[in-house]
Order: sequence, then C-alpha cells, then structure tokens
Amino acid sequence: MAFILAVLSLYWGVFFNVQNRLHHLLVYVVDMDGATPFGNTGNQPFVGQTITQLAEKQLSSGMPTLGWSVRSGSEFNNDVLEVRQAIYNWDAWAAIVINPNATAMLYQAIATGNTSYDPLGACQLVYQEARDNTNWQSFMFPIISAFMTQAQSQVGKTWAQMVLQNASDAGTLANIQAVPQAVNPAIGFSEFNLRPFFPYTSIPAVSIGLIYLIIISFFSFSFYMPIHMQYLSPKGHPPLKFPQLIVWRWAATITAYLFLSLAYSFVSMAFQLNFTTSNPVTSETQVTMMEHGNPIAYGHGTFPVYWMLNFFGMIALGLACENMAMVVGQPWMGLFLIFWVITNVSTSFYDIEIAPDFYRWGYAWPLHSIVEGSRQILFDLHSRIGLDFGILIAWGAVNTGLFPVCCWFQRWKTQREVHEYWPMN
Ligand SMILES: *[C@@H]1O[C@H](CO)[C@@H](O)[C@H](O)[C@H]1NC(C)=O
Ligand SMILES: *[C@@H]1O[C@H](CO)[C@@H](O)[C@H](O)[C@H]1NC(C)=O
Ligand SMILES: *[C@@H]1O[C@H](CO)[C@@H](O)[C@H](O)[C@H]1NC(C)=O
Repeated sequence: MAFILAVLSLYWGVFFNVQNRLHHLLVYVVDMDGATPFGNTGNQPFVGQTITQLAEKQLSSGMPTLGWSVRSGSEFNNDVLEVRQAIYNWDAWAAIVINPNATAMLYQAIATGNTSYDPLGACQLVYQEARDNTNWQSFMFPIISAFMTQAQSQVGKTWAQMVLQNASDAGTLANIQAVPQAVNPAIGFSEFNLRPFFPYTSIPAVSIGLIYLIIISFFSFSFYMPIHMQYLSPKGHPPLKFPQLIVWRWAATITAYLFLSLAYSFVSMAFQLNFTTSNPVTSETQVTMMEHGNPIAYGHGTFPVYWMLNFFGMIALGLACENMAMVVGQPWMGLFLIFWVITNVSTSFYDIEIAPDFYRWGYAWPLHSIVEGSRQILFDLHSRIGLDFGILIAWGAVNTGLFPVCCWFQRWKTQREVHEYWPMN
C-alpha cells in the first residue's frame, strides 16, 4: 500500500492542478494590423486592437488560460514568416497573427465591392502539433479554438455595426450585396500546422511503444543471467575469472541491446513510418505535406540515427535495471521496474513545463531525451539531438561505472546467503 501510494502518486501528480499552469504555454498574439507602411489608410486598425484586447482580457480574467503574449508586428518586421520561424524555434507554442492590412482590406472590400475578398486572409494561427500532440490536443487547441471563435464574433459584431451605418448609401449597399463575406464572417483564421502529427502510427513510436523498450531491457537480465552463470561452472572448460565475467556480461548485454533496439526500430518501419523520403517542403517555416508521410530530419540517414537513439536509450534504461537487479534482487526488482516506468513515463509523455516544479529532474531522465529525440528525428523539429544523446550516454557511462561494483555486491550477497542456508562444514 505504501508503495502504491508513493510511486503511483508520482504519475497522478504530473496533472495535479495543471489548469493553473497552462499559462506556462506561451502563445504569441502578433498584431501586424495597422503596421506602417501598410496601415496608414486613415482608418482605425480595429481588427488587431479587438483581438489583442481579447487576449489581455483573458489574462486579467483570473480564469485558467494559456500564456497569451501580445507582441507588436515590428518585433517580427511585420513578416509572418519570421513569426513562423519563432514558432519553429520553440520560442512559443503557437501564434495568432493579425495580418498586415486586415482592417484596410475590410474597408477596401466594402468601398470597392471587391468580390475576391477572403476573410481567411485576415488572421492566421501557426503551430506545430508534432512538438507535443498531447499538449496541443488536450490543453491548447480547445482554448485557442474558443479564442478564435470569440475573436471572430467580436470583430464581426463591431464591423457590422460600422458598415450598416452606411447602409443608406446605395453604393455601399450594392457593395455589401457583392461581398457578403466582408460582413459575415468578415474575418477568419487560416491555420498553419507546420509539423502535423501524422501518420498516426507515430503515436506508439513516441509514447507507449517506448514503455516496451524499458520492459525489454529489464527482462534481458533474467533471460541472460542463467547463461552467464554457466561460464562460472567448469564443465569441459576452465571457469571464467570474476573480472572476466564482468567484462563478458557487460559486452554481451550491450550487444543484445544493439539488436533488440534494431528490432524495436524495425516495428515503426514495418508500420510505414517514413524513414527514407525527404519531404519536398524543406523550409522550416512551411507546412509539411502529409501525403509524403512524416518529414524526416536526416534523409537516408534517418533510420540509422533513430536506431542509435533507441540503442543508447536502451543502454541508459537497461543498464540501470541490470544494476538495480543485482543490488535489490528478487522479488523487489519488480517494484523497481514499476518505479522506473512511472518516473520515466510521467516526465516524457507529458510536458514538464506544465507539471509541478517538483518534476524538473525529469529533464535529466532517460526517456525524456528518447521521446524528444524521436520526435525531432521523425518530424524534423527544432533539434536538441546532441543534448539528447549526451544525456543518454551519460546515463550509460555512470551505470557502466557502477556495473562492476554491483556485480561484486551481488556475488557477496549470494555467497553470504549460500553460507546461511548451506553451512560449509
Ligand atoms: C495595405 O493597404 C495600403 C492602403 O490600402 C496599400 O497601399 C498597401 O499596399 C497594402 N499592403 C498590403 C501588404 O496589402
Ligand atoms: C481584392 O481583395 C483581394 C483579397 O483581399 C486583394 O488581394 C486584391 O488586391 C483586391 N483587389 C483590388 C482591386 O483591390
Ligand atoms: C462609411 O462611409 C464613410 C463616408 O463615405 C467612409 O469614410 C467610411 O469609411 C464608411 N464606413 C465603412 C465601415 O465602410
């Protein structure tokens, strides 16, 4: 009971009061409407104003909401592509951009009856779903979607009032009839998902599938231990010396990981995750095309890099299991597996940014790096691959250092037990 209460709480705790930390997820609201040199049309650029005020109202309402951050267009040189680059670089999770001339276009559409006026040209939403699909789908999109609806209806209401003041004018009335979309809905949001989370077989590849990587690395201990032990009993061959056994066990385990991680990586390939076709859209600021599969980061080198990430991940996860198995032994080993899975899962499948501060250690936990690296490799995201590999290699190195100590401890413990149960004399 104590174990369940203590260890499972680590998992539940990740989501505790998460609504109060949603404001850690930064969302830019970039107002380019009315930006010089475009906006000097003499009219108040009210579209941008209405939407930025809405964001400020949400922030001051005291209700749980995202971290809206109102930015002026000049910070991005009134260039929408610079905003997209900022989103790609993880400066913010998403951006709502009020395009240059959004208000001027509305006025112009009514003034001239321009039938090609497109409400979706007024604003845009930029985001990257593949960066963290759980964050996006569970926490961000519902709020952003409600925000966009509210912005649209608020701008529409204000604008309809303004236009209808001129409705007595026959020319204006004819223009309204020619471009009804300039009154309703007046504005809309084009959506640019720079890195869609697709195909859906990537769901196991960046989440539950990796739990099996932990479990497989855990079971290699009980599978291979009896085999290693045969080298100790002299049956038609001289027995291994203890240091030789340690080196042999380490090398055999790492070799096993190399092939087990290859098999693990093959599963994703078998289920048609893209590992070979570079996406024709190579620019970081462009939306990748779903029909070409996930946009890989390293061309034909993608699969080897993915394999190596899983290999070093397995070393990091598995050597820790080997060492713990030797120290705590059966049956406590099973409890360590649960602890190991829960601490790794709670800091990698869910965003530490919106978890309680207590979970900061998760940035150094192995699975966090494997998930971040896998997403980067499979979806060509902003890269921290060097850091990811570095953390995994550090785990492997520390556990390699501890390996002989644990082997020695296990031998000492086993010999002591043998003496207890079967006295030598
Ligand atoms: C914005 O509107 C002004 C005035 O109508 C026009 O001169 C300018 O070319 C427009 N800019 C863009 C980017 O559409
Ligand atoms: C009509 O509106 C479209 C889209 O808003 C714009 O690109 C175009 O320049 C406008 N045409 C004229 C003649 O102003
Ligand atoms: C209404 O008409 C006035 C005078 O022609 C014009 O300045 C103004 O821009 C018009 N308002 C709208 C919303 O089109």
